[in-house]
Amino acid sequence: MEHATVVVSGTKIAEEISSSRSEVWRLIQQLRGLGVDVAGHPATGYQLRSVPDLLLPEILRPMLRGTIFGSHLHHFYKIRSTNTAAMAAAAEGAPEGTVFLAEEQTAGRGRGANSWQSPRSTGIYCSVIVRPELPPSDILVLSLAAGLAVQAAIEQVDSRVKPDLKWPNDLLIDGKKVCGILCEMNAEATRVRYAVVGIGINVNQATFPKDLPATSLRLVTGSEWSRVELVGALLKSLDREYGQLKQDPGARESILQRFAENSSWVFGKKVRIDENGSGFEGITEGLDERGFLRVQTAHGTRTVLSGTVREK
Ligand code: BTN
Repeated sequence: MEHATVVVSGTKIAEEISSSRSEVWRLIQQLRGLGVDVAGHPATGYQLRSVPDLLLPEILRPMLRGTIFGSHLHHFYKIRSTNTAAMAAAAEGAPEGTVFLAEEQTAGRGRGANSWQSPRSTGIYCSVIVRPELPPSDILVLSLAAGLAVQAAIEQVDSRVKPDLKWPNDLLIDGKKVCGILCEMNAEATRVRYAVVGIGINVNQATFPKDLPATSLRLVTGSEWSRVELVGALLKSLDREYGQLKQDPGARESILQRFAENSSWVFGKKVRIDENGSGFEGITEGLDERGFLRVQTAHGTRTVLSGTVREK
C-alpha cells in the first residue's frame, strides 16, 4: 500500500518483510487469488495496479482516529460470521470498540433463523463490540441508533440516497432491503455485560436471487461504491450515536424521535405483525419509551416486542 502504483522489486519486498523472494512470489499469488490486482513477476518486480477496495485496518485506522473504533480492528478475508467471532472475543474480554470486518462470510447470520448472504468483497459485513452501562431492556435503543448511523453514513457518501428505516432493524430502498442489523448481547437480569452490533450492507451486488426482496447501493445508483469510504463513514457515525447514548441523558429520547422522523413505518402504516406463531393487524402509532412499536388494532393498542412487521 505504501508503494502503490510504482514497481517494487521482489528483493526489496523480501527485505521489508524479512523473507525470501520465493516467499514473496507465493504471497503475491495468494493476494491475486483474493482479487488484488498486482502486475509483474519475480524478474521484473511487482506493481500494485490499483488500491483494492478491501476493508484493511491499515486503510481504515487513520480514518477512525479519535473514535472508539480506531484501535482494535480485525479483518478477515473469509470467516463464518463476524457476529459469532465478535461475541466469542467479547466473552474473552475484548475491549469496547473492537471491530470485526470480513470480505466474505460463509455462515452470515440474520435475525431469527435467517441467514445473511455475504458474497466476497461486495457487501459490508461488520460487527462491533460495545459494553454499555444499560439494563438489557434498553438494548433496543442501541439497535435503533445503529439504524440511524447506517442511514446517515449512506446519505453522507451519496446525498441522493436516503434509505427508509423499517422498525426495528432494516433499511429499505424502494421497499427492498439494503441493510440488516443483528444486535446480540450477553446480560445479567439488570446489566448488559457486552453487546455486539452486527451490520450487513448490500453495497456492490449486481444481482439477487429472484425470491429475495433485496437491493444494493450499486443497483440503486448505477455505479460502484467504495466500501472503504462507506465503512469509514459508518463507524464514525456509529461512534457519534453511541458516544451520545453513553454521555447524554437526553440521547435516548433523541434517538427515538429521530428514528420516528426518518422512518415511514413508525406512524400511520397499515401493518401485519407475526409474533410467535400468532398474528394481528393494525396501524402503527409511534414508539414507546423503550423503542417498541405501538400498533392500534381493532381491540386497542398493542406493543410489538418481537416478531416480523409487514406492510398490509
Ligand atoms: C437481519 O436483517 O436479519 C440482520 C442481518 C445482519 C447481518 C450482519 S453481516 C455482519 C454480521 N455478521 C453476521 O453473521 N450477521 C451480521
